[in-house]
Amino acid sequence: MASSVGFMFWFVFFFSMLHLRIHSASPSLSDVQLEALVALRDSISEDPLGALANWSNVTHHCSWYGITCDSSNTTVQSISLFELQLRGTISPFIGNISTLQMLDLTSNSFFGHLPAQIGLCSELTGLSVSSNLLWGPIPPQLGNLKMVQILRLESNFFNGSIPGSICNCTSLSELSLHTNNLTGQLPSDIGKLVTLGTFLAYQNQLVQKQAHKEHKDLSWFGPSKWKSYVQLPSKLLGFH
Ligand SMILES: *[C@@H]1O[C@H](CO)[C@@H](O)[C@H](O)[C@H]1NC(C)=O
Ligand SMILES: *[C@@H]1O[C@H](CO)[C@@H](O)[C@H](O)[C@H]1NC(C)=O
Ligand SMILES: *[C@@H]1O[C@H](CO)[C@@H](O)[C@H](O)[C@H]1NC(C)=O
Ligand SMILES: *[C@@H]1O[C@H](CO)[C@@H](O)[C@H](O)[C@H]1NC(C)=O
Ligand SMILES: *[C@@H]1O[C@H](CO)[C@@H](O)[C@H](O)[C@H]1NC(C)=O
Ligand SMILES: *[C@@H]1O[C@H](CO)[C@@H](O)[C@H](O)[C@H]1NC(C)=O
Ligand SMILES: *[C@@H]1O[C@H](CO)[C@@H](O)[C@H](O)[C@H]1NC(C)=O
Repeated sequence: MASSVGFMFWFVFFFSMLHLRIHSASPSLSDVQLEALVALRDSISEDPLGALANWSNVTHHCSWYGITCDSSNTTVQSISLFELQLRGTISPFIGNISTLQMLDLTSNSFFGHLPAQIGLCSELTGLSVSSNLLWGPIPPQLGNLKMVQILRLESNFFNGSIPGSICNCTSLSELSLHTNNLTGQLPSDIGKLVTLGTFLAYQNQLVQKQAHKEHKDLSWFGPSKWKSYVQLPSKLLGFH
């Protein structure tokens, strides 16, 4: 009897510990997202308008300025922080907000690189970091964003070439890359983007790719050089 009670004790103890372990190994989605928002806040060093003043643990993060959650306030759906004179970097933790559908950081002073982890936000339908001070490569991981319809990276200092993986963003309707420091040629698969209605890549150092001359309409856009103005309504490319 005693030994069976002892057995039960250890049995229960063992499973309680296992339960604890499982819990500590996988924090809730909400905790992960809160941690990511805190990391985003902490990577912003200047907030002269006090926009993030209520980004504190006094209130639930779903009521923080610029944050929208689902109806049960468990998952973050959008982060909208535009024209707020914010200065800082974009934390790679943003990639942990797997339910994010919209990220709008337009017209601030975010500098540094666009973190590759944004490619983990596979539910994104809209992403804008335009009019900031970002530089470096356009992360090829953006090609994972199968649902993204609007992608605005214009008016930054992005350099290097346009990653070919962007052609995997097959939901794109608007791709705006103008006014950066991009070099090289357009990805050869750009024609895969059949729903692309607006493509802006002027004010870069792009060169016309030989292969694109096959699309006779394409020459319509580049009377002299691609570098000055590139706009590709897909209709004119004959994709519809
Ligand atoms: C809120 O955050 C502060 C600083 O990060 C911390 O010291 C405090 O314990 C937190 N309060 C709660 C209720 O979590
Ligand atoms: C979710 O958060 C919003 C904003 O704080 C609040 O107005 C709403 O009542 C909350 N909904 C639920 C179900 O908690
Ligand atoms: C946070 O601040 C914004 C405006 O700055 C306001 O709309 C919102 O209601 C505030 N949330 C809370 C919980 O005070
Ligand atoms: C969140 O993202 C960061 C940076 O990408 C990573 O180091 C960290 O492990 C992630 N945390 C969780 C809980 O997923
Ligand atoms: C992008 O710019 C940085 C800083 O000017 C430079 O170090 C880097 O080599 C550039 N990258 C490419 C691919 O041109
Ligand atoms: C696009 O996606 C396909 C399959 O999802 C993958 O095999 C391919 O390598 C991707 N292309 C690029 C350029 O990333
Ligand atoms: C663009 O890149 C060139 C060389 O790669 C460099 O000389 C120039 O300063 C860059 N311009 C900007 C605005 O970053």
